[in-house]
Amino acid sequence: MSQNSKEKGKISWQSPSNIALIKYWGKHGNQLSCNPSLSMSLNSSVTITSLSYNYKDKDKNIDLEFLFDGKRTPLFEKRIGNYLNNLLKEYPFLAEYHLIIDSSNTFPHSSGIASSASAFSALALCIMSLKKICLRDMDQKEFFQEASNLARLGSGSASRSVYGGYTIWGKVEGARSYSDEYACPLKSAIHPVFQTFYDAILIVSGENKKVGSSAGHSLMEKHPYAKSRYQQAMNHTMEMLHVLETGDLDRFIKIVENEALTLHGLMMSSDPGYILIKSETIEIIERIRKYRQTQKIPVTFTLDAGPNVHILYPESYRKEVIKFIEDELVELCDEGQWIDDSIGRGPQMLNIQ
Ligand code: PMV
Repeated sequence: MSQNSKEKGKISWQSPSNIALIKYWGKHGNQLSCNPSLSMSLNSSVTITSLSYNYKDKDKNIDLEFLFDGKRTPLFEKRIGNYLNNLLKEYPFLAEYHLIIDSSNTFPHSSGIASSASAFSALALCIMSLKKICLRDMDQKEFFQEASNLARLGSGSASRSVYGGYTIWGKVEGARSYSDEYACPLKSAIHPVFQTFYDAILIVSGENKKVGSSAGHSLMEKHPYAKSRYQQAMNHTMEMLHVLETGDLDRFIKIVENEALTLHGLMMSSDPGYILIKSETIEIIERIRKYRQTQKIPVTFTLDAGPNVHILYPESYRKEVIKFIEDELVELCDEGQWIDDSIGRGPQMLNIQ
């Protein structure tokens, strides 16, 4: 145990899920993305993780108990154990402690919402806090950059969850400040209309996905459209930076919907192709587009790697959009479930003992 280290303690972080406006789909090397992605961090869909550490002795192995909602979960324990083992070379202090990780989500377990972004970002932040205790202090910028890099190694999209607001992961042509290794908060000013954006998550199905995102990313390796897709994502990212600065809602809607449908188009045109959306997903999309056209309200949708629909809209239309969801869309949701979320401020340290 190093001089500054503590014998035991507990660190807790809360970290959000995020919704990608420009999608990460296709990776290479050690969890590097083939294109830049850009997301909005959420406010209420979060994971809360605590890391308890108790000095055991210096040996070479990770000694971990992983609990989800207070219950031991061998499947997650194995995945997190592997993740921590892969970090040992750079974070040897992890093997000096008996570790208990206890994690829970604020969103319902059966909602079909991917929790890997919030889960790995919360865990990465706990590891970084332990690093500060065991090895050395560091400034905020370095702390969050390294946390983002660590989160990325667990799940690519998690790299973007260590910041609030809008976040970019991956180098962008003509913008020197972004990186492939870690995500960064957007450097440019955000137009007021996008500063208070909402995301209503319509739960179409809470079932587990037939094809997970790791398998989906792999199918991009031999995808006939891969090259043009990566260029399209680059162009969309550059344009989205401008859109978020100028408040151009029309262009925002066009890019966001194109990204969502492209993601699912890529899945369908993979070999083997597969379909994650359901008939209700399509019906919801049709109704959103009709509502936008008839009511002249700038509401749009995006999709994750699943059938649920994220409805994105500006705060000034909140009353109207909630009414629209309740009157016309809830009937298409699984048990009427939807989550009323919005842009969030990013992770929060809850406790350090
Ligand atoms: O982070 P992963 O490996 O679960 O991939 C996430 C991919 C999408 O959610 C579909 C898109 C994205 O950029 O978040």
